[in-house]
Amino acid sequence: QTDASERTSIVLVGLMGAGKSAIGKRLAARLGLPFHDSDLEIEAASDLTVTEIFAKHGEAYFRAGERRVIARLLSGSPIVLATGGGAFMDPETRAVIRTRALSVWLRAPIPILLNRVLGRTHRPLLNEADPETVLTRLSALRSPVYAEADLIVDSTEDPPDMTTDAALAVI
Ligand code: S3P
Repeated sequence: QTDASERTSIVLVGLMGAGKSAIGKRLAARLGLPFHDSDLEIEAASDLTVTEIFAKHGEAYFRAGERRVIARLLSGSPIVLATGGGAFMDPETRAVIRTRALSVWLRAPIPILLNRVLGRTHRPLLNEADPETVLTRLSALRSPVYAEADLIVDSTEDPPDMTTDAALAVI
C-alpha cells in the first residue's frame, strides 16, 4: 500500500460482472476507506432501481444522474468507488475520475463475466439481446476506453480475495 492509496480515491471500472462491487468492498476494508457503489447511490437518490430508471427515463437520464453522483462522491475525502460499467464511457465522468482518483480497470474474459451475470435481472442492458452478444459488443466498444484507466487488474479469479490482493499489490 503506497502513499497514493492513502490520499486518493480508488475507482473501479470495467464491464458488468468484472467484480467491481465485490472487489471494491474488500479493497475499502483493507485500505480503511469508505466504500461506495454509484448504482446504489443513484437508486437511493431517485428512489427507483436502475432498471426502473432505464425504463421510465431512458439511458441518457441515468447517465446524467451517474455523472452527478460520481462527481459528488469524488469531491470529498478518499473513498473506494465501484462504478456502473458504462460510467467510464461518459467523457465528462471519465475526466472527473481521471483527475480526482486512481482508476483501476478490472478485466476478465467474457465467459467469466457471463457466468457472473447470468440470472441477475437488475442489469437492463443485458435484456436487450442475449447476454453473450451484449457483453461481446460492449467489450469491443469499451475495452479501448477502459484501457485509459491508470491500472489494469485481472479479475478472472474467484474468490474475489485473490483479485483484491493483486489490486493491493499495484495500487
Ligand atoms: C451498466 C452497468 C450496470 C448499471 C447499468 C448500466 C453498463 O452496472 O450501471 O445497468 O452500462 O454497463 P454494473 O456494471 O455494476 O452491473
